[in-house]
Parts: sequence; structure tokens; C-alpha cells
Amino acid sequence: MSNTVSESATLEYNGKKIVLPVVTGTEGEQAIDISSLRKSTGLVTLDPGFVNTASCYSKITYIDGENGVLRYRGYPIEELVEHGIFIDTAYLLVNGELPNDSQHREFSRLLNECSLIHEDMRHFFDSFPRGSHPMHILSTMINAMAAFYPDVDLKSLDEDINQSCARVISIVRTLAAFAYKRSIGEPIVYPRHDLSYCANFLNMMFDSPVRPYQIRPEAVRLLNVLFIIHADHEQNCSTSAVRTIGSAQVNLYATISAGISALSGPLHGGANQSVIEMLKMIHEDGDVNKFLKMAKEKDNPFRLMGFGHRVYKTYDPRAAIAKRECENYLKLIKYQDPLLDIAHRVEEAALTDSYFVDRHLYPNVDFYTGILYRAMGIPENMLTVMFAIARLPGWVAHWREMIGSSTKLVRPRQVYTGQECRHLEEDYRKVK
Ligand code: ACO
Repeated sequence: MSNTVSESATLEYNGKKIVLPVVTGTEGEQAIDISSLRKSTGLVTLDPGFVNTASCYSKITYIDGENGVLRYRGYPIEELVEHGIFIDTAYLLVNGELPNDSQHREFSRLLNECSLIHEDMRHFFDSFPRGSHPMHILSTMINAMAAFYPDVDLKSLDEDINQSCARVISIVRTLAAFAYKRSIGEPIVYPRHDLSYCANFLNMMFDSPVRPYQIRPEAVRLLNVLFIIHADHEQNCSTSAVRTIGSAQVNLYATISAGISALSGPLHGGANQSVIEMLKMIHEDGDVNKFLKMAKEKDNPFRLMGFGHRVYKTYDPRAAIAKRECENYLKLIKYQDPLLDIAHRVEEAALTDSYFVDRHLYPNVDFYTGILYRAMGIPENMLTVMFAIARLPGWVAHWREMIGSSTKLVRPRQVYTGQECRHLEEDYRKVK
């Protein structure tokens, strides 16, 4: 199951031959190991955006972007969705194996026990300006947890890692729901010990003293599915942020806060909000082709949001699941969303347009999920927060894998292209 050195690659430079090992992963993907390159040649490699760079070995998630395959710890995403229990997927990601009955019960108990935030933290919500984006509130609040739970350092984690992982996975959901309640001026709803992870979240979001919330099993099932498909995606931007920050042995909360910040960008998790904004614009305008044309224009910054992916060069398997859920769920709850029709029309037009076909641009996970969250009553500015809640187990799993291995401090090199050495005195003389 481990990586093996199978072959070697030879690099010729300045008349010297440098032999570099080629390592092979479990699924046969190969990588040239350049870790000795600088020592032996003085050279570094240049790879903006890390398009060709594997930053680590990992046993957590496997993606085959050419064939649309996604597996967590070896299990296909479609089978995990079928199983349908997010906290089991979370446990799997963090611990490497699915929980048995007693492990499931213990993990649920831990999640319940850790779901409350320190009461003093509640007042923080009052200090944010009305209208603050909930992603900013979430990353700040998670970071602040280090001050309230200072015992979470690397030493204590060795002893009680399950508790710390459970706390951050559980509390993110409480913080997200509290942030939402504050933003709409309603009293916060505390977590309940008798509800499952997803039911608890929906209740904290939508229950109110004057309008008790009826938890619908179909909404709980859907939330489990949505959280499962977002739970991990190997070395994406936010996970790489988590690994980078974490490699400096920063505490778990600051590390996760960095992941949340990275996720908020519109080219990453923030795309789910941008997709809904775009679909609304197209709906108002009515002309799908006009937007496709804009997305193709070289000097137009407009992009078809929810389309394209660094790794998938075919249909994102998560988008396929979200699309199917969209059709089924909206029918089930008898909810007609004109944005679903717009999404279908955009997809059909793009997938028959040579610009998108030639560049292998297909719907990604963010294309259909916003429509599903809308149908559940989740407001637009909470869409990326939903992604963050779901991604917590993935970040925790990667962080745990990283601190458990001999990973070095992440510190890339650069190719300097600035001024050559110059001297202050001469330059001052020139300007005077
Ligand atoms: N609309 C129009 N053109 C696109 C799009 C798009 N959504 N995505 C890529 N392209 C074009 C690029 O302009 C480029 O064209 P060129 O070869 O003529 O210059 C070509 O396709 C390759 O694109 P890159 O930007 O080089 O691909 P990269 O792998 O760097 O980007 C990304 C991937 C950022 C996801 C990109 O496809 C994009 O911006 N998509 C829209 C935002 C989005 O949906 N993000 C969510 C991604 S999933 C996630 O992070 C959870």
C-alpha cells in the first residue's frame, strides 16, 4: 500500500547527469522525486500554481481527474453517499477506517459534548458590523477558539486528539448557525443532545421561539449527502493552506481558520455563491448565449462560475451527484426553482460549445449545490459556510496526517526577478 521507488529519471544539465528517483503511488500515478535536486545541483524547480507539483504523500483521498473518480480512504464517493451518514465519513477521513457501532456512538457523544461554544464567545458576535460576510465571522471565531481552548497544542493532541478533532468539527456548525441567527437578528438556538449532526445544524439555523422548526428527514438526508461530497478533496487550495500553516506547528484552530479564509475565495469554495449570483443574472437577462460569449472573451474577466477544475478534465463526480439530487429533491418537496432550468440550459450550451469542450470545462461541485441549499432555505451568503462545515473533517484529517508524519516546515523557494544589488547613498544623490 505504500509508495515505491520504481524507476528513475535522468536530468541533464551543464554536461552533468542527475539521476532522480521516480516514486509510484497506490493507484499507479508516478512522480519524480526532486527533494535532493538543490543539494546536488543548486537548482530549484519553478511551478507557479503548483500545477505539476505533489506537495506530500497522502493516504486520505484519491482523485483520477481524467476519469472522474473520487475516493475517500479507498471508498468511492458514490458508495459513501449511498451509506449517507456524514459523521461516519468524517470519522473515516480522520481515522482511516469507518467506525463500528461503538465507535460511532462514541464519536456522536464526543460531537455532542463539544458542540457548545464558550459563553463568553457569544458576545463576539455583537461586535461584527451588520452585513459582515459569515465566512469572515467564521474564520475569526475559529481563530479565537485558540484563546478559549489553549490546551490544544501539539503535546496535548498526542494524548487527546479525538477530543480536539471532534471539538473543531462540532463547533464549526454551532458557530455557523449562531452567525446566521445574529445576522438576521434572531435569538440563537443552542445545540440539542438528542439530534444528529445534520438535524442539529438545521434546527439551530431555522428554529425560532415563534416558529418551531419541523425537522424533515428528507432535508437531513440531503444535508448528509451534500456534506459527504464536500468532505475532502486532497491538496486543493484550502487544504494546502491548512498543511502549510500547520507545518509551522501552529495550533489546530489557527490552522483551520486559514483553511476557511482560503476557501472563501470565488475561485475556490466561494464559487457556490457566485454561481447563484450568476444564474440569477442570466435568469433576469434571459440570454444564456450572451453569458457564454462573455466567458469566452479573452479580455473579459467574467468566467462561467461552477465550471472548470484544476484536476477534473471530465465531469466532476460530485457535480453528477448534486445534479441528480437537485432533480430528485426539488421534485420531492414540490419546489420549482427557475435557476435549475437556467443551470440545465447553461450546462447544455457549454457542453456543446467547442471552447468549453476543447478546454475540458465541465460543471464542478459548486454548479448545482447552491440550488439545493436554496431549496433547503439556506441564504446565499451562507453557501460557502456550508462548504466550510462539510470540509472540516478533510482539513482535520490532512492536518493530523501531516503532524503525524515527518513533514518539514513548508517553505517554497522563488526565482528572484527584482533589482540587482544597489546602494542607498548613490540613489539619494541622484534624486536630490
Ligand atoms: N469559464 C471560462 N473559461 C474558463 C473557465 C471558466 N469557468 N475555467 C477555465 N477557463 C479557461 C481559461 O480561461 C483558460 O483558457 P485559455 O487556455 O484560453 O487561457 C483555460 O480554460 C484553462 O483555465 P485555467 O484558469 O488555466 O485553469 P485552472 O486549472 O488554473 O483553473 C479554476 C481552475 C480556477 C477552477 C477555473 O476553471 C475557474 O476559474 N473556474 C470558475 C470558478 C469556479 O467554479 N471555481 C470552483 C472550482 S471547484 C472548487 O474549488 C471547490
